[in-house]
Amino acid sequence: MKHQSSTLAVPETSAVPRHVAIIMDGNGRWATKRFLPRVAGHAKGVDAVRSIVEACAERGIEFLTLFAFSSENWRRPADEVSVLMRLFMTVLEREVGKMAANGIRLKIVGDMSRFDPKLQEMAAKAEAQTAANSRLTLTVCANYGGRWDVMQAVSKMIKDKPGHADFTEEELAPYLAMAYAPEPDLFIRTGGEQRISNFLLWQLAYSELYFTETFWPDFDAKALDLAIASYQQRERRFGRTSAQVLDQKKAS
Ligand code: FPP
Repeated sequence: MKHQSSTLAVPETSAVPRHVAIIMDGNGRWATKRFLPRVAGHAKGVDAVRSIVEACAERGIEFLTLFAFSSENWRRPADEVSVLMRLFMTVLEREVGKMAANGIRLKIVGDMSRFDPKLQEMAAKAEAQTAANSRLTLTVCANYGGRWDVMQAVSKMIKDKPGHADFTEEELAPYLAMAYAPEPDLFIRTGGEQRISNFLLWQLAYSELYFTETFWPDFDAKALDLAIASYQQRERRFGRTSAQVLDQKKAS
């Protein structure tokens, strides 16, 4: 399905965001505050993922995208990286059956080539097992970076059209890793920091940004509703004036 680009056209919007993208930050601090090892925060973070996936599906959100591991997260201590990798495998092993049964389509996006071949294989199987589902598309970004995404898309596009110059945004769009999804309506970052951290740089062009101090393991359905309520108060102008937005609302 081809989705409208927010810079080429004014996309249709709805009261419930179609696509929510989240940077799940604060796992480490959640654990440290409780005198627990950082990895305990990641384990608790998995519980939060489970409940937010279900809460999003219940609210009619069609796409949920989670930043699980950035291309810069390899800079972390080796033992934390390896615990995260094991956690991803355990989650894939334990949760995919449930996702398949609950109508969740799983997509894993990022440069998977750096991961253990076993994890790559499990990810591919999980995607295949849930491919026919349509209740909610859950995208897990792993070894993902917004700049990586743009560069891999540019490289593939140029390879496909040798000798071609003056490419357009429309020509690039199908090569982006998340071409199957509309651009995020709502971006959420937990844990108090207010930055994008090389997440979906291209796709966040006109997303509404929401930052909360809540650490990811504490982010529950109530916290999600607060984010959605904030989103519902925003006027999405996409470059237009407020008067134009109101006129369009009246006309529709
Ligand atoms: C950020 O918290 C979190 C991560 C880098 C890992 C996120 C992983 C999970 C929530 C678990 C697995 C998820 C899936 C989808 C299977 P942080 O460690 O940067 O926290 P801090 O800023 O408090 O140190």
